[in-house]
Amino acid sequence: MASRVLIVCYSRGGSTLRVARHLAEALGADLDRIEENDSREGAGGYLRSLVEAVAKGVPTIRTLRDPADYDLVILGCPVWASTMASPMRAYVLAHRGQLQRSPVFVVMGGRGGEQTVREIQLACRAGDSPSLVLTHREVEDGAFRDLCESFIHRLTGVSRDNARWPKREASRSNDGPLPGVA
Ligand SMILES: Cc1cc2nc3c(=O)[nH]c(=O)nc-3n(C[C@H](O)[C@H](O)[C@H](O)COP(=O)(O)O)c2cc1C
Repeated sequence: MASRVLIVCYSRGGSTLRVARHLAEALGADLDRIEENDSREGAGGYLRSLVEAVAKGVPTIRTLRDPADYDLVILGCPVWASTMASPMRAYVLAHRGQLQRSPVFVVMGGRGGEQTVREIQLACRAGDSPSLVLTHREVEDGAFRDLCESFIHRLTGVSRDNARWPKREASRSNDGPLPGVA
């Protein structure tokens, strides 16, 4: 891709990070992982994460890169309680001015992926941007690589200058690249 692309991801257990790394390599993108001071490991961390997701809590996070320096910012996070993982909620709230065309990918156990994508798109005012829903199993067994292909295809060549995602073209389809895009 000629434009500067940033992938911002949160991952508690590593599966979303694995997808993010694959996409970053395929797209020649930079990768910024959302970090926190407090660990979410173990049963206590799981419970805290669950409660926070249900309560739509906004934890303190830190990232390294400024999304304003990029032409396109792709967001990736796990599904928690059929909603976005709370650290991604914090990121979106902090940066939504720079996320208005952001493609979204999520990793789930098996439920709530599409709902989570829509929620992120709504929070970012990203319309019906390209999106990808994967299961934890698909990441574990490597099937995610093939499933990423059409998402990557949709994104190739998109930049802030030429990104045009009219609703008709923005569906989660396996269509070719966006019209007018290299
Ligand atoms: C607190 C919590 C809540 C979760 N809630 C859901 C859920 O509602 N639906 C679902 O399909 N998976 C759910 N999961 C499973 C994760 O989405 C799934 O394991 C994902 O691959 C984790 O990504 P990660 O390895 O990048 O952290 C939940 C996981 C956690 C930790």
